[in-house]
Amino acid sequence: VKVFVPRDTTALSLGANEVAAILQRACADRSVDIELVRNGSRGLFWLEPMVEVETDQGRMAYGPVTPEDIPALLDEGLLDGQPGHSLYLGPTEEIPYLKNQQRLTFARAGIIDPVSLDDYIHHGGYVGLRKALARIPQEIVDEVKASGLRGRGGAAFPAGIKWQTVLDADARTGSSPYSKRKFIVCNADEGDSGTFADRLVMEADPFMLIEGMTIAGLAVGADTGYIYLRSEYPVAHKILNEAIARAGKAGYLGNNVLNSGKAFHLEVRLGAGAYICGEETSLLDSLEGKRGQVRVKPPLPALKGAFGQPTVVNNVLTLAAVPFILAEGGQAYADYGRGRSRGTLPFQLTGNIERGGVVELAFGVTLRELLEDYGGGTASGRPMRAVQVGGPLGAYMPEGQWDTPLDYEAFSEVGAVVGHGGIVVFDDTVDMLDQARFAMEFCAVESCGKCTPCRIGSTRGVEVIDHIRDNQERDYHLNLLEDLCDTLEDGSLCAMGGMTPNPVRSALNHFPDDFHQDRTTAS
Ligand code: NAI
Ligand code: SF4
Repeated sequence: VKVFVPRDTTALSLGANEVAAILQRACADRSVDIELVRNGSRGLFWLEPMVEVETDQGRMAYGPVTPEDIPALLDEGLLDGQPGHSLYLGPTEEIPYLKNQQRLTFARAGIIDPVSLDDYIHHGGYVGLRKALARIPQEIVDEVKASGLRGRGGAAFPAGIKWQTVLDADARTGSSPYSKRKFIVCNADEGDSGTFADRLVMEADPFMLIEGMTIAGLAVGADTGYIYLRSEYPVAHKILNEAIARAGKAGYLGNNVLNSGKAFHLEVRLGAGAYICGEETSLLDSLEGKRGQVRVKPPLPALKGAFGQPTVVNNVLTLAAVPFILAEGGQAYADYGRGRSRGTLPFQLTGNIERGGVVELAFGVTLRELLEDYGGGTASGRPMRAVQVGGPLGAYMPEGQWDTPLDYEAFSEVGAVVGHGGIVVFDDTVDMLDQARFAMEFCAVESCGKCTPCRIGSTRGVEVIDHIRDNQERDYHLNLLEDLCDTLEDGSLCAMGGMTPNPVRSALNHFPDDFHQDRTTAS
């Protein structure tokens, strides 16, 4: 009997290793043979650890399972995929949260053993690379352009245009080992609060990222790729390294990829925990072994990136979308979506939400559908009050905006950002003044210190919000906060300082009462 117990970070943090160990021991005690597969999560996090059993009718799910549940589960038909136990969830694919998704990037997540190359290939892996190898670089770039894929890290710059810039760029000559070369850098420094889709790609389907980077290398003429991974992702680190070694051994990486005569090498480089190293130029500095500090653009990394050479810097989800695009064609990807936002986005539901997890859907779904149909309301059972979309630099959205379709332009029209698709929910106990203060404090802590509005302005922002809270010359300080936001927005070198006003302003505009309370009497 094939039994699946996930081994991604979320499942592990909820006790999946203990469940796997007890299950194995209990089966041994009963002299029952099982084949235990440590898959990645399907992304239905509130059901983790979710145990699945393969049957003639497909995979049956049980969850959330604790070690204590195992004896009763075995007594009540777990290994036959039978109902009976209260944790029985039925056929996994029929769970509405999963069934109603449009999974292109997460199509294999949870289904395969993440480090099994055979499993990956059996489920459609490496079709895109084989098609790319039969084409010239310009045709690969054209396919990505046709897909309409935009940067999934948050800025939504068209990936095909970035690749074209790198393809057309001349690599610098010289005598350094980096001369005459181009690079692919994967930004896996997923720092936005409430985001975990990059991590789940790396932990549940790492060959997809490896394949996407290899295709990118072929497209622009790069022979080496780096995955810049945050050090807070040790499980992803281990799985990636194992997958890279296996891909290399099987000829999918190395000096002669699938005997094509083309080289592509891949390496994971670890960050050291700075939010700003998710900004592409700081990331490049850090990758090169320097202190991660934002570089002035231009020159764009596409022209002068890693080690001074033309470099594609793309987020995990961007590169992970590429195998599908090459395998099925750009149009198949572009058929999903709305307006200029083509394809799908794996939204990440978290915060005070009943059913947190990954929901991959075409652009155009509304926030309310995600929050209610998928998320099932707050975990606390209290009314929702505010939703922050797009990480700590994204706006807080009040209920009046929850029917906005999730697409980059529609969100921009209401002063919000889609970002990397992180959705953090707050119930009616949230204090929006505290949230605004947190945005300034976060900026003060994470600022790289290169420019004054961000380095100093954020610290002043915390002080000004404290004065508002303490009812000291409130109107004067509210005006000062507006001024400070203007300065941060107009005078910062990068998005860290430039976008910090988003959460602050949205809190002020949509939840003004929280800035006018008399807290001296309340406390
Ligand atoms: P940006 O708009 O400056 O650049 C976007 C990308 O397009 C960059 O890679 C840039 O080099 C490239 N680019 C621009 N013009 C180009 C051209 N003509 N040819 C080729 N490439 C070109 O935005 P930036 O500063 O890279 O990113 C800001 C975004 O990052 C924000 O919108 C925010 O949502 C997101 N963010 C994401 C985080 C995460 O954890 N995923 C964390 C913090 C911010
Ligand atoms: Fe550094 Fe902040 Fe300036 Fe960005 S805005 S370059 S993080 S000081």
